[in-house]
Amino acid sequence: MKPRAKILIIAGSDSSGGAGIQADIKTVSALGGYAMTAVTAITAQNTTGVKSIVAIPPKEIANQIMFTANDIKPDAIKIGMLHSVEVIKQVISCLKKIKTKHIILDPVMVAKGGAKLINNKAIQFLEKQMIKHAYLITPNIPEAEVLSNMKINTPEDMIYAGSILINKGATNVLIKGGHLKGSFVRDVLINKKEIKVFKNKKINSKNTHGTGCTVSSAITTYLACGKTINKACELGIKYVNQAIGSKINYGKGHGPINHLTSVSINKEFK
Ligand SMILES: Nc1ncnc2c1ncn2[C@@H]1O[C@H](COP(=O)(O)OP(=O)(O)OP(=O)(O)O)[C@@H](O)[C@H]1O
Ligand SMILES: [Mg+2]
Repeated sequence: MKPRAKILIIAGSDSSGGAGIQADIKTVSALGGYAMTAVTAITAQNTTGVKSIVAIPPKEIANQIMFTANDIKPDAIKIGMLHSVEVIKQVISCLKKIKTKHIILDPVMVAKGGAKLINNKAIQFLEKQMIKHAYLITPNIPEAEVLSNMKINTPEDMIYAGSILINKGATNVLIKGGHLKGSFVRDVLINKKEIKVFKNKKINSKNTHGTGCTVSSAITTYLACGKTINKACELGIKYVNQAIGSKINYGKGHGPINHLTSVSINKEFK
């Protein structure tokens, strides 16, 4: 098949391949997109945690974005780990030059094992300066709590926090509910016109490394292919759900999900 859309991913590298830029590339590819990348940081990590993080110089991140996008114009941009104010400033300046409507920001703050991926000044800067440039932001519960400055214990709290983020300038907010207890997972989509709750059975699995990166990249791909925000979220959540459900069991900690859930191999390549 020919790629259906071109996606530029701005994110950190996860050496274990389950999250970060690796999860993003796999997701975009598995859903028929063409993935390009600007690496913001290199992490040495595996399913048990993060060993070390090396930040890429902000100017070099901007070089990757602009040199790539000036040659192959992206239909959508997915943004993950941005660790400092200077990096965010550089990325915003690039976004203004590229002028792509579909900018999806996953405001990554903490890795599954607890490692901090962004400094405190950058969180404030992200909230005040970056959110308004995105078409969609996809915080998980702890990230939504930080950005909205409230505790989230129920789906109703998720809706309220989402409306706070809309008032702070976000266009669309999808709060991911993987961190709430209960037998169902609810992801809440909010914009000025509507509130939509996507409800799915919680899959009992320790292998959920990279679910957040995966769902936001899947939604980015669907938006780049022309789907509406509602449909893109519905299909993106369905994809991550199946990827969690197909249960590969790699590594000793929180293992990866199966990004190949949507792929079948042609007979001639078997
Ligand atoms: N156990 C589960 N069963 C079904 N769906 C899940 C489960 N855990 C997470 N999801 C789905 O995965 C997506 C990501 O949600 P989650 O809240 O885990 O994001 P996240 O915390 O950003 O993930 P990450 O730890 O990768 O950063 C959401 O669409 C959520 O509904
Ligand atoms: Mg996340």
